[in-house]
Amino acid sequence: MRMFLDSADFDEIRELNATGLVDGITTNPTLIANSGKDFIEVTKAICDEVDGPVSAEVVATDYEAMVKEGKKLAALHKNVVVKLPLTFDGLRTCQRLARDAIRSNVTLCFSCNQALLAAKAGATFISPFVGRLDDCNLDGSELIEQIRAIYDQYGFATQILAASIRTANHVTEAALAGADAVTIPPAVFRQLIKHPLTDAGIDAFLADWKKTGQSIL
Ligand code: E4P
Repeated sequence: MRMFLDSADFDEIRELNATGLVDGITTNPTLIANSGKDFIEVTKAICDEVDGPVSAEVVATDYEAMVKEGKKLAALHKNVVVKLPLTFDGLRTCQRLARDAIRSNVTLCFSCNQALLAAKAGATFISPFVGRLDDCNLDGSELIEQIRAIYDQYGFATQILAASIRTANHVTEAALAGADAVTIPPAVFRQLIKHPLTDAGIDAFLADWKKTGQSIL
């Protein structure tokens, strides 16, 4: 399962990209606003830093304007994937951009039927929002499982990108549910490696090693 960072914070992205474990980035208008940076400039900088898909979202709501924005974003860098909302205009734009081999990430997916429509429209990625469903007492992981079953049954190539991830458990659940990729906020990405027994084990090994008085180098 590929792991993307859900962030437009360039410093965080650069720091975590150095782990060698980051496969791509997703941004959205809220994350761009939080970054305090110019959308176009920060998108280009992220694309230069990360060798993988970088989702950049349109803000127009009608087909003609979405196509224009999508083409402009796609022209910024080969890594750009155009993020489109799950509306009929968004799905029409998805089909239009696909004709020019422009990749898309259809976002704000909360149901199987929406995921089915996005796949029919030829979306590269579908983004089910796990955390926002959980916020409403609905089961985000179950949605991913169901989309996986539908896509496999009909052989859709659209990749499931689990989004709106709030906890490390969400990442495990997305993996178990068969997501192709998961987009993770930097703070949650850092938590993925944590386990108290790992820390205690390292401390104990180092203390015992010290007693030997030896050195490897
Ligand atoms: C996905 O692409 C979105 O950017 C993001 O995951 C939304 O997460 P949120 O529900 O925490 O805002």
